[in-house]
Amino acid sequence: MNKKWWQKEVIYQIYPKSFYDSNNDGIGDIKGITQKLDYLQSLGITMVWICPIYQSPMDDNGYDISDYYQLNPEFGEMKDLDELIKKAKEKGIKIVLDLVINHTSDEHPWFQDLLENGENSKYKDYYILKSGKDGQPPTNWRSVFGGSVWEPLKGTDQYYFHSFGIKQPDLNWENKEVRKELYKMVNYWLDKGIAGFRVDAITFIKKDQNYDNLPADGVDGLVKCTKKTRNQPGIETFLHELNDETFSKYNCVTIGEAPGVPYEQYGDYIGENGYFSMIFDFRYADLDVASGSEWFRRVDWDVLDLKKLIFTSQKEIQKAGWGANFLENHDQNRSISKYIKEEENRNFYSATMLGAMFFYLRGTPFIYQGQEIGMTNFERKSIEEFDDISSIDQYYRSINEGFSEEEALHFINLRSRDNSRTPFHWNGENFGGFSEVTPWLGMNENYKTINASQQEQDPDSILNFYKKIIEVRQTSEASECLIYGEIEPLLEDHPTIIAYKRKLNDEEVVCYFNFSSESQKVELDHNKYDVLLNNYKEETISEQECVLKPYQALVLQVKGADLS
Ligand code: NOJ
Ligand code: CA
Repeated sequence: MNKKWWQKEVIYQIYPKSFYDSNNDGIGDIKGITQKLDYLQSLGITMVWICPIYQSPMDDNGYDISDYYQLNPEFGEMKDLDELIKKAKEKGIKIVLDLVINHTSDEHPWFQDLLENGENSKYKDYYILKSGKDGQPPTNWRSVFGGSVWEPLKGTDQYYFHSFGIKQPDLNWENKEVRKELYKMVNYWLDKGIAGFRVDAITFIKKDQNYDNLPADGVDGLVKCTKKTRNQPGIETFLHELNDETFSKYNCVTIGEAPGVPYEQYGDYIGENGYFSMIFDFRYADLDVASGSEWFRRVDWDVLDLKKLIFTSQKEIQKAGWGANFLENHDQNRSISKYIKEEENRNFYSATMLGAMFFYLRGTPFIYQGQEIGMTNFERKSIEEFDDISSIDQYYRSINEGFSEEEALHFINLRSRDNSRTPFHWNGENFGGFSEVTPWLGMNENYKTINASQQEQDPDSILNFYKKIIEVRQTSEASECLIYGEIEPLLEDHPTIIAYKRKLNDEEVVCYFNFSSESQKVELDHNKYDVLLNNYKEETISEQECVLKPYQALVLQVKGADLS
C-alpha cells in the first residue's frame, strides 16, 4: 500500500450553526470556529470538516445552496473564512468544506430563471424536467425527505425532480454545461487553499434514464426512489470526469458520501485510481432501522450484529482501499444513546470504550462535535420542537403507516437528525456557553453536567480520554501500526466483546472492547504487552489472560514475541 497523507489525519466534523456563536444572534458562525481553534488543537485533531456555509435559505441547513460562491451572511464573510483557513493552518489544522453538487436550492438563480422564463429559460436543461402522465407525476418515486420526487413547475405542465426536499431540485448531470459550471466552482474553492471536500450525496448524480414506475412499498402508493437514483450504471463516466477535471489536479482529500454502493464496487470508488480518497460506509450506523430512511421500521440488534457489520465493512474496505470511520455525524443520533441500549450504562466507560473501538479501526477517524464530551440525544415532547425536515416527514409517514402519534414521536426521538444538531455544550452557564441569547434550536438541559469546560478540568473525563485515544494513534510507539497496519478480527463469535488486531511488519497491537455491563475473561496469545490505552486505572492482565471490566477498552502492544 502506498501511504497517503490523509490516512494520518484525525478529522473533526463541525456543524457550524451549532458550534459557537461569536456575535450572539443565536446561530453558530465562522468566527466562532476561529475562536475555538485552541480547543480543537488541544484535542489533537489535524483537520476540520465544516458542513455547508454557502449562501442558502437553510431549508436543509445549508444542503440547499443558492450561491456556490458566496457565504451565508449568518455564518460570516469571505474574509472570516480566509482568516479561519490561515489561523487553522498556523495550528496545523487543515480545513475541508462540504461539496453539494447533486442539487441546488430552488432559490439558486438558475432555478429562479427557470421559474421566471419556463421553456424559454437558458437554464431549462440545468434541472430535470418531465411532463406528467394523466394529471399524475411522471413516476411514483418517493423522495428521501418524503412525498413524490416530482413537484409541479409553476406556470407549466412540467414537473421538476428532487431526490431530497422540495426546495432542493436535482441538477441535470446529463447536461455538459452543468458539469462544467460545477467543476469551475470546485476548482475555485480548491484554489483558495482548502484541503479538500466531503462530497454530499454523490451517488445520486446519475438517474436511471428509463423513468418508469416501480411497485409501491408504502401506503402512500410511492416507492423509495433510490433504486432508480443511486449509483446507477453510467455514474462512472461522471465520477471519472469530475475527478479528472478537479480533484486530481490538486493534492487534496475527498471524502465521498456514497450510500448504495455494493462492496464489489468499492474498488472503483476508493481503489488506487478510485473516484475518492475514502468513503463513508453507513451499514453499521444504520443497524437499528431497516433502511436508513425509514425510521419506523425498527430493527432489534445485538453486539454480534454490530460486530459483523463492522468487520464485514473493514474487510471489504481493506480489500478495496481506504475508509472513513465515524460513530456520529449531523444525520445520525448520538452514539452513546444508540449503541449503549440501557440508560444506566451510559457513562464514562461506555463512552470512551465506544470512542476507542471505532478509532483504531483501519481508516481515517472522524469525530463529530460533542462526541468527545459524550453529548446525548435530546428527547422532544412534540413535533413542533423539531427543525429537521426529515424528522417532520418521518413523523407523518409513521402515522400514515398506521402508528399512533406517540409511537411516531418515539421513532423520531430515537433517530432524529436534531439529536446531534443541538448547540455544543461549552460550559455550564446559560445555553451551555454557546451563545448569550436563545439558540436557534432547543438544547439539552444536561449541559450543566456534560460540558467541555468542566471536562477540561477533570483528568478523568471523556474529553481527556479522547485526547489520549488520539495521542496513541498519532504519536505513540504504535502509531504507524495503528494507522497503516492491516486489521484482523479477533473473537469473531463472542457475543459481547469486539476485538481486533492491527498488524504492520513485525509489530502487533491487539484491541479489546467489552460491550457488556459484566466482567469478561479473555485469553491472550502472548505474555508480554505494553498497555497503550485502558479506560480503567487498574490492570487486570495476568499470564496469558485478562479480565475485561464492564465497558472496558484495552489496547495492548505485543512485546518480545516473534511475530514474523
Ligand atoms: C446528506 C447530508 O449529510 C444531509 O444532511 C443532507 O440533508 C442530504 N445529503 C441532502 O443534501
Ligand atoms: Ca452568530
